[in-house]
Amino acid sequence: MSKWLARISDWICVRLPVDKFWKEHLSEYFAPKNFNFWYYFGSLALLVFVNQILTGIVLTMSYKPDAKLAFDSIEYIMRDVEWGWLIRYMHSTGASAFFIVVYLHMFRGLLYGSFKKPRELVWILGMLIYFCLMAESFMGYLLPWGQMSYWGAQVIISLFGAIPYFGEDLALWIRGDYVVSDATLNRFFAFHVIAVPLALVILVYLHIIALHQVGSNNPDGLEIKENKDTQGIPLDGIPFHPYYTVKDIVGAAVFLIVFAAIVFYGPEMGGFFLESENFIPANNLTTPEHIVPLWYFTPFYAILRAIPDKFGGVLTMGAAILILFVLPWLDKSSIKSIRYRGKIFKFALATFAISFVSLGYLGTQPATPGAMIFARIFTVLYFGFFVLMPFYTRNEKPAAAVPARVTRETPLTETLRERWPRVKEFFLQISAIREIKTSSGSVYRIPVLDVEALLAMARDRVSNIRKKF
Ligand code: HEM
Repeated sequence: MSKWLARISDWICVRLPVDKFWKEHLSEYFAPKNFNFWYYFGSLALLVFVNQILTGIVLTMSYKPDAKLAFDSIEYIMRDVEWGWLIRYMHSTGASAFFIVVYLHMFRGLLYGSFKKPRELVWILGMLIYFCLMAESFMGYLLPWGQMSYWGAQVIISLFGAIPYFGEDLALWIRGDYVVSDATLNRFFAFHVIAVPLALVILVYLHIIALHQVGSNNPDGLEIKENKDTQGIPLDGIPFHPYYTVKDIVGAAVFLIVFAAIVFYGPEMGGFFLESENFIPANNLTTPEHIVPLWYFTPFYAILRAIPDKFGGVLTMGAAILILFVLPWLDKSSIKSIRYRGKIFKFALATFAISFVSLGYLGTQPATPGAMIFARIFTVLYFGFFVLMPFYTRNEKPAAAVPARVTRETPLTETLRERWPRVKEFFLQISAIREIKTSSGSVYRIPVLDVEALLAMARDRVSNIRKKF
């Protein structure tokens, strides 16, 4: 059998360089050996992307892109199609999971300076992916043809109308009608199921090829290619396969447990993943009281509302996204990783993260005068992080000396035999023996999970991670 398999594989490889691709991108792609928790999110983004495509294909088999049928076809999927509810919830929860994973993936880039030279193009391709993702989810949200789908699209498309001279014509061209209608639904469907996913597949491919051309960054922000052995292999590198494929499977398993828990027990996430208003069919004569976009757009929505002038708001919101593209050229420091960066950068990054999350919260709230003041303050802080960056990073004083080689306490190449004493110790620490007396008087001693000990360990771990930053 194996002889036959070898002959088939030879036959294919002579005609298609599968073996070369495997070596270049997996078995002989040397990744830094100090990847940590933050490095799970690239592979998780790939996993969620595959989930969206597969569940999307199945949904398309029963969905009707017709203003008269769309809402009912979703109800049909939820109630009558075999396992339709599961596929739909996997897709709707997948959309939010995609943004959670991508936001954490992007934040990792900020933490470890992965956007800086020589990975500028990896970052720009990532930003293009992010832009397409926003377009993809915005257009997908119209498809259920609920109240929020309809009015959300109406509000966002009308923003284009604020552009002087050709804005109104542009909005009309995007809608294909004077209001959001069947024509809009049809074109959004075409973009959502074909055009944007195709662009995303191409961009994700280029993103990874560009990364593998220059090599991965790491939590120490060191270039492992600068220290090679006599055979040209980076001393601080390990082959991606099997070491990181196995590590990523662990991340994927944990992620899927959390994902399944949400899909089965809270797919609406209190209105954050699926808004209650969207369970009402679209009605162009009744406007919902609060039109709120889904949570992943709310930081930008808050920026839009913070500016009193409509066109000014649109420009500021656009600038908030576009400024991320030029980030590699705003940061003038030679230090990449947050571990060694100066106090000012750490403070600026923390302020940026707090502003982004606060804007996200404010975007979900009604636009009261108090909320508007806070939204303006956080908008200024958001832009301050970028605009002032060339100044506060120019002569950065490192918080600690940047090491010559990557740091890591537990080498991934350690064998299971070497690791076993620590694994055993871990299980002993988190287990306790409980005595159970039966009604007949016999006593059983059974091992149980010591939740207190587990929580204490988790707390220790979190505080250790905090100390590192
Ligand atoms: C569909 C969405 C995306 C997928 C599937 C994806 C996939 C990946 C993968 C597999 C890696 C290598 C593993 C890793 O470093 O975690 C990676 C690295 C990277 N990605 Fe993404 N990515 C996506 C979106 C983005 C976005 C939106 C950005 C930023 C705007 C971004 C920026 C980066 C950077 C800078 C790296 C290099 C990180 C390093 O070496 O430290 N990615 N991406």
